[in-house]
Amino acid sequence: MAGTREPRTETDAQFIAFRVNGRVVSVSSSPLQRLSRVLREELGLTGTKVGCDAGDCGACTVLLDGDPVCACLVATGQVEGCEVTTVEGLADTSVGARLQQAFLTHGAAQCGACTPGMLVAATALLERNVSPDENQVMDAIGGVLCRCTGYRKIIAAILDVGVKEAGSDGAEAMSPAAGEAVGRRLVRLDGKQKVDGSEIFGADETPANAMAVRAIRSPYHRARFHFGDLAAFVRDHSGIEAVFTAKDVPGKNCYGVISKFADQPVFAEGEARHRGEAIAAVVGEAAAVEALETPDFPVSWEELPPFSDIDAALATGARLIHENRPENILVRGRVVRGDVDKALDAADVVVDAEYETGFIEHAYIEPEAGFARRVGGQIEIQACTQSPYMDRSDIAAILGIAPERVRIIPTAVGGGFGSKLDLSVQPFLAVAAWHLGKPVRMVYSRTESIVSTTKRHPARMRLRGGCSKAGKLLALDFEADFNTGAYSSWGPTVSARVPVHASGPYYVPHYRALTRAVHTNLVPAGAFRGFGVPQAAIAQEQLYDELADRVGMDRLEFRILNSLDDHTPTVTGQVLGEGVGIRACLEALRTKWKAARREAAEFNLNATGALRRGVGVAGMWYGCGNTSLPNPSTVRIGLKRNGRIVLHQGAVDIGQGSNTIVTQICADALGAPIASFDLLSGDTAITPDCGKTSASRQTLVTGKAAQMAGEKLRRAILKLAGACDCASIHFGGGDAGDSDVIVRDGDRSHVLTLGGLPLDEHGYVITSEATFDPPTSPLDENGQGVPYAVFGFGAHMAEIEVDTELGTVRVLKVTAAHDVGRAINPTLIEGQIEGGVAQGLGMALMEEFFPGKGENLHDYLIPSAGDIPPVESILIEDPSPIGPFGAKGIGEQAVIPTAPAILNALHDAIGIRVRKIPATPDRVRAAILAAQKVEARG
Ligand code: FES
Ligand code: FES
Repeated sequence: MAGTREPRTETDAQFIAFRVNGRVVSVSSSPLQRLSRVLREELGLTGTKVGCDAGDCGACTVLLDGDPVCACLVATGQVEGCEVTTVEGLADTSVGARLQQAFLTHGAAQCGACTPGMLVAATALLERNVSPDENQVMDAIGGVLCRCTGYRKIIAAILDVGVKEAGSDGAEAMSPAAGEAVGRRLVRLDGKQKVDGSEIFGADETPANAMAVRAIRSPYHRARFHFGDLAAFVRDHSGIEAVFTAKDVPGKNCYGVISKFADQPVFAEGEARHRGEAIAAVVGEAAAVEALETPDFPVSWEELPPFSDIDAALATGARLIHENRPENILVRGRVVRGDVDKALDAADVVVDAEYETGFIEHAYIEPEAGFARRVGGQIEIQACTQSPYMDRSDIAAILGIAPERVRIIPTAVGGGFGSKLDLSVQPFLAVAAWHLGKPVRMVYSRTESIVSTTKRHPARMRLRGGCSKAGKLLALDFEADFNTGAYSSWGPTVSARVPVHASGPYYVPHYRALTRAVHTNLVPAGAFRGFGVPQAAIAQEQLYDELADRVGMDRLEFRILNSLDDHTPTVTGQVLGEGVGIRACLEALRTKWKAARREAAEFNLNATGALRRGVGVAGMWYGCGNTSLPNPSTVRIGLKRNGRIVLHQGAVDIGQGSNTIVTQICADALGAPIASFDLLSGDTAITPDCGKTSASRQTLVTGKAAQMAGEKLRRAILKLAGACDCASIHFGGGDAGDSDVIVRDGDRSHVLTLGGLPLDEHGYVITSEATFDPPTSPLDENGQGVPYAVFGFGAHMAEIEVDTELGTVRVLKVTAAHDVGRAINPTLIEGQIEGGVAQGLGMALMEEFFPGKGENLHDYLIPSAGDIPPVESILIEDPSPIGPFGAKGIGEQAVIPTAPAILNALHDAIGIRVRKIPATPDRVRAAILAAQKVEARG
């Protein structure tokens, strides 16, 4: 590595001088200290992110004398006399500045946690090669992981800066005129801070003198434990201030995202139910807490036999993990319609199948982090979260205080995908800050994040489907058990949502779907993009391929024939009436499907080696919002005396773009230009509750509330001006001082001088607030009713190549058609689709988490840039009568059809079905060998 020196062996602090972003700095540090730590903690350059501290994620990439390096693997002593460039310094370089702009215009930054590392790696490439090709770009960023974007827009942005044009539609940097925001490819409003390194994530800010909090966690899947002398431990360890355990929880030592099922203790009492469960928290000076060796902590463990799978937990007479949950079943789900047994008996063709999927780790690049402080009788927690108001309720219960005395300040979220809906650092921070009256900070290591936070539910699914000779679906019988781990988390939601969706977006007249969430002694499974629907789609979409094959029908035409329309009832008896775009999505693939199948067949006909090609398709539907439960959002907007409009936007933007999309909707409803808006975040002290960022609900629910609030403010302004409904409003929007609003009503102009108007309780001239809760109804005992007001629909086609000797699968292209109702911001929607495809690809082919093994990003593999094929997005706009401007959700919809499309393509290529997903090379190869054996036996 150019310019580096051998690290010294001394561990004591020394002065080390080097240049950072062109400035000479001298730090007092151990020469062995990680450079990433020194940059962030000593120099305040928090643009350099830490995702793993192990060289696996690349989030910490900086330039060291022009070469990209992982700053977490570089000892500070090595950089003495060297030049270090971080993301904060890129704007000073021509290439860096152009890359930052290209990332904005291409929508290449979503959550932004990987963005600094990506930009730095790309800068290094373009400094050496002004005209890289796509493979060179993929090589250059291959060491930097992104969990959000699917890499395609990043690659396009980098190519765009090089001489070779990417040819991708970029987003608009300019603000459109009033009333013209919806449908435009606007640059995300929070984009600048993501590309210049100034975005504040959970670990990026801390009060001066904050003490560190570290959880002591069970090393066993199940164990009894006894504390030794905790007081002596504190006394004997310099710098350690306190140890907190269950007895120190002032309120309830219990929380959970669904209050009816809340069962998770802040600190386990007497017995840990899963590996990684916290039993205590040590608080003290950062150096002392960090230096602590876990064996020093006074606790004795007695390892106990765990239930490691659902069979053990379901065995007759099995001990109960929770006394109040017979048979270790947390909850059951059920949707039944018609007479499935009779219909299957009468069907011309019946197919049985069984599929299994494993735990999947969310692997967002930002591990959980935050800080807390006690302010008089209140507690303030600033942390990464997807659900500030839910956090507020749980923390209030844990501390035994009123929710109004808890303030949750969400930071930027470096990826969530469902797991940051649950509490992580917050309870430990709250208990410690409450007792000590001092600020405290907690930052999870990657391992801590993986061992203790929720995962995608492993599923075991059995299904039986039948159709007529003509290919009409007649019946589906579906059963699934989900391993929900030691605590409930979102297990009830998965159990309830899957039976509603396991038919897929097709008319299935006779249907039975039964689910169970089963407790084991493993890490809790929770929400992960789709709440169990992606697992169900893997089973149901492969079954439909088998049925189509059995009746000799084209697999795409089989789906088109059976697709739901506006007037056919769903499996819960709901008739949507409008906005059912699945047929349009499938039909949009028809020409490409025929061509791709022809090409694959030709390739295979001429193939002499080990490679074979296949094409697969899968459909999807997904209900936006909570299942048959209220989930309102409230949006407040205020008109200031200077003419600016303040949008209290409480939908936490976890990278998906709600800050931008909700503003686009609100702006057009009000008739104001985007440039007139100032955004306030989901801070519970200043912004009403917009619910959680999950279930693909924010565009629909918060967007609709924003539309209503915008329209209400418009009406209030028109009324004040005495103008008619058709009048246009022109906002002054001055940065400072008072301003006028001019209302034009035909030839007449009404001037509202805002400076002369009184301020209301919120400090605005006019405040408008609106709440929207999508209309649903409870499901009856057979699951019949209206679970969701709006569904999103989609279909993916995957083209793949299989190496039959190695068992490896390469995805060549994914074509993704999605009915989004109305594309509020096409660039952001494409970003969701591409990111969903990447996660679906990982789910199909590579990702499986085994609790107790591989608790890092080295062993747990997620797709890197080189794994992701080109993705062609086709946006269908079949408007929802309920959604804002017709819009529907896309976040979860995007991930659901990819895996089954790939798995169907695998069967198309080589005629095998892998029943345990992911279809890793060993499983594919084993299936090939098993098929060969069967064939040889004749
Ligand atoms: S933090 Fe350095 S590679 Fe992940
Ligand atoms: S944008 Fe890459 S990790 Fe979120």
